[in-house]
Amino acid sequence: QTCILIGAPVDSGQKRAGALMGPAAYRVAGIAAAIEELGHKVIDRGDVTIAPCAPLPHPNPAVHHLAETLAWTEALARAGEAAAAEGMPVFLGGDHSLSLGSVAGMAAHAKKAGRPLFVLWLDAHTDFHTPESTVSGNLHGTPVAYIAGRPGFAPFPPFPAPVPGERIAMLGIRSVDPAEKSALIPEEIEIADMRVLDERGFGAPLREFLDRVRAANGLLHVSLDVDFLDPAIAPAVGTTVPGGATFREAHLVMELLHESGLVTSLDLVELNPFLDERGRTAKLMVDLVGSLMGRKVFDRPTRSF
Ligand code: ARG
Ligand code: MN
Ligand code: MN
Ligand code: MN
Repeated sequence: QTCILIGAPVDSGQKRAGALMGPAAYRVAGIAAAIEELGHKVIDRGDVTIAPCAPLPHPNPAVHHLAETLAWTEALARAGEAAAAEGMPVFLGGDHSLSLGSVAGMAAHAKKAGRPLFVLWLDAHTDFHTPESTVSGNLHGTPVAYIAGRPGFAPFPPFPAPVPGERIAMLGIRSVDPAEKSALIPEEIEIADMRVLDERGFGAPLREFLDRVRAANGLLHVSLDVDFLDPAIAPAVGTTVPGGATFREAHLVMELLHESGLVTSLDLVELNPFLDERGRTAKLMVDLVGSLMGRKVFDRPTRSF
């Protein structure tokens, strides 16, 4: 594998400053070495930048930093599509609004490759608002709606090849706004919320989704929000929600993803290093990337199990 690191110091999708330090924190935590250690090649493309933006008004007065978010979307889609032709893009966020661009780039790439794109959303939140429905005005709460092709995203460019609900799965969900809930009801998005995961564990629902990706010869984009994890192990995020994935559960998800061999691109989002404790959240995220890229205790099954 060749991993292409794309720094996305995006801070405009929410109101707590600090996520722009995310790419630097991942590099300090040794993300490149952790991937290379597993026998892969790493190319670090550095950080994507945007030009200063004039403010852009929106009919929903809550929406803020629309111009910046639009600029990031276009810049990251371009960078992502170019990287996807050379290897596995790994977006170092940055808040979750960066996925408006990263997944747009992957969708454009998938369209050219003539293969269906699937999206796995690992998050406490469904991020299914449109700019029209958001109450907080934080556009990091909107990328899944954009990816799914919901209307109401002007002035964003139309999503290149909207991903139908049947090709989207969400794991870890435990905080959904009323407008998101009603919009999600008619969709076929598979939502493994914590109620489902408590009962069935993470393995079974994830395997079912991966089987569908494999059967369709799909490309698989994984979007990992730090708040997927329990705040006790991952405090460095602005939107903590109690009751998230444990250390073991999160590693199991990453190990199953590795074993599937299906993951073609990855977002690491919402890390806010300003809220971290001696880098522990950044280090945990890098460790999880290690599991996703093939780190395991033994290379083959142990004798007695
Ligand atoms: N639903 C809430 C909102 O729209 C929270 C979104 C949190 N999203 C995230 N990417 N952390 O404001
Ligand atoms: Mn999110
Ligand atoms: Mn979230
Ligand atoms: Mn559908």
